[in-house]
Amino acid sequence: IDLFAGFHTAYKSFATDAIHVGQEPEQWKSMAVVPPISLSTTFKQHSPGKHAGFEYSRSGNPTRNCLEKAVAALDGAKYCLALASGLAATVTITHMLKAGDGIVSMDDVYGGTNRYFQRIAAEVGLDVSFADCTKPQLLKAALKPNTKLVWIETPTNPMMKVVDIKACSDLVHEHNKDIVVVVDNTFMSAYFQRPLALGADICMYSATKYMNGHSDVVMGLVSMNREDLYERLKFLQNALGSVPSPFDCFLCNRGLKTLHLRMERHFKNALAVAKFLEADPRVEHVLYPGLPSHPQYEVMKRQCTGCPGMIAFDIKGKLEHATTFLSNLKMFAIAESLGGYESLAEHPAIMTHASVPENERNVLGISDTLIRLSVGLEDEADIIEDLDQALAAAVRIRH
Ligand SMILES: Cc1ncc(COP(=O)(O)O)c(C=O)c1O
Repeated sequence: IDLFAGFHTAYKSFATDAIHVGQEPEQWKSMAVVPPISLSTTFKQHSPGKHAGFEYSRSGNPTRNCLEKAVAALDGAKYCLALASGLAATVTITHMLKAGDGIVSMDDVYGGTNRYFQRIAAEVGLDVSFADCTKPQLLKAALKPNTKLVWIETPTNPMMKVVDIKACSDLVHEHNKDIVVVVDNTFMSAYFQRPLALGADICMYSATKYMNGHSDVVMGLVSMNREDLYERLKFLQNALGSVPSPFDCFLCNRGLKTLHLRMERHFKNALAVAKFLEADPRVEHVLYPGLPSHPQYEVMKRQCTGCPGMIAFDIKGKLEHATTFLSNLKMFAIAESLGGYESLAEHPAIMTHASVPENERNVLGISDTLIRLSVGLEDEADIIEDLDQALAAAVRIRH
């Protein structure tokens, strides 16, 4: 049957016009001040193999390029690559290794990094071990002839342990200059810490946190100066397909524009909160690298330009005091993640670090009374007032 029998003749070239008019690839020289979101998955070639730098959006995308260039500059790096998530960045880096190669990781790392190393990387034949890198001699003792990758996170999540990046990078490279030292810089952002200038080979981020800063993008970033690492990781970014969307790249690039302002305010608010908690009798102890009481305060001052909004503390009492405190917060949201403009609180043992086996949590100090705060950009007095009233609610259950 003729579907259109009796209808008026179709408008000439309707489909062709819908697809092509106004869409000429050559027109995009607009001088727009804000980088456009380039959603096109493919790019016109002048002749086969001759193109203006882009072929297919997984291999390269103009909006992703803008972001990667900006992040490289902020990290003092030659190169940067954006990936689909922080964990996608970790997986992509680890794909540089082959079965039998060794990874030495900081013992206190993000729960998902720990899970990936122990339950996936180790399963496919990588030799994974952990060391407390706050004591560089323990890292040195953990290096083996097959070690290819050293994974440092500083400050750590959630125990806020600080690793001396220069001391660790130097000793690893003296042992074997080919070992790749990676620093997960998620907690610090490029504004407060530049691991590459301290001797690391790769600076890695969950950009989901401070780098984007608005809790609306999941993304990973890796920066480096070594061309061989860049070429290998760029190959893997494309070959593994672990790329972020252009829209997310646009948002993260936009987030970077206020990174310095946000980090300064996070520091100011968090320091005030840390001092408040440290002086409070309802609190057992506070872990904040910006406090002189922090065991690695001197290292922190030497290698960082400030401190972020991450604080961990043990509330006095038991598990129920921690959960009562959290349930009574009014402005802070009980939520995983961190580094956004809004204040968040969480219980690492039940939430973010539940994937770390219990005996390991105990060794690390991730107790039932440990609470982690991501102090946001609200007014300092309102933040402290909320914590104060929730502490009061937790104390009431003692009687
Ligand atoms: C320190 C750190 N590294 C890596 C990750 C993983 O990043 P993503 O959640 O973007 O995959 C996180 C996530 O919380 C993190 O906190």
